[in-house]
Amino acid sequence: MEPNGCAGNCPDCANKGASQEENRRSVLSWLLGGGAVASLGSFLYPVVRFLNPPKITEAAVNEISAGKVQDLKPNSGKIVKFGSKPALLVRLSETEWRAFSAVCTHLNCTVQYRDTTQQIWCACHNGTYDLNGRVVSGPPPNPLEEYAVGLRGDEVIISRNA
Ligand code: FES
Repeated sequence: MEPNGCAGNCPDCANKGASQEENRRSVLSWLLGGGAVASLGSFLYPVVRFLNPPKITEAAVNEISAGKVQDLKPNSGKIVKFGSKPALLVRLSETEWRAFSAVCTHLNCTVQYRDTTQQIWCACHNGTYDLNGRVVSGPPPNPLEEYAVGLRGDEVIISRNA
């Protein structure tokens, strides 16, 4: 029963009910529309971010610590992070070290040290480099960028050649 005593059949009550129904529908429409826009946005935002990545200039990393001397035995190599790219540290003997960019100059695969041949090898297309970074065989068009290696106490330091 309505507060005015009507059972809900008078024109005022009918208009009020219709108006409440319209309000409910508009709220529902608004919520559904907002949800659809939010869903579409959550789908499109990563796509747009992927297609247009932020312009982050790579922080110029000129030197890194590649670990302790005792962590790498002679005639072995390991990949370390040099800024955003991999570098290959090779320990040839007790006192001889080499370091290179580990990015193959062919199609950017990561190269590795092969102790059996004492060469640097790219598994992607069987490219090989010598221990000066020069191409020995395979498709790589250019030598590997060589880095300087120094010791600071028992820490191995790799740095870009000036
Ligand atoms: S990517 Fe290294 S040989 Fe092709």
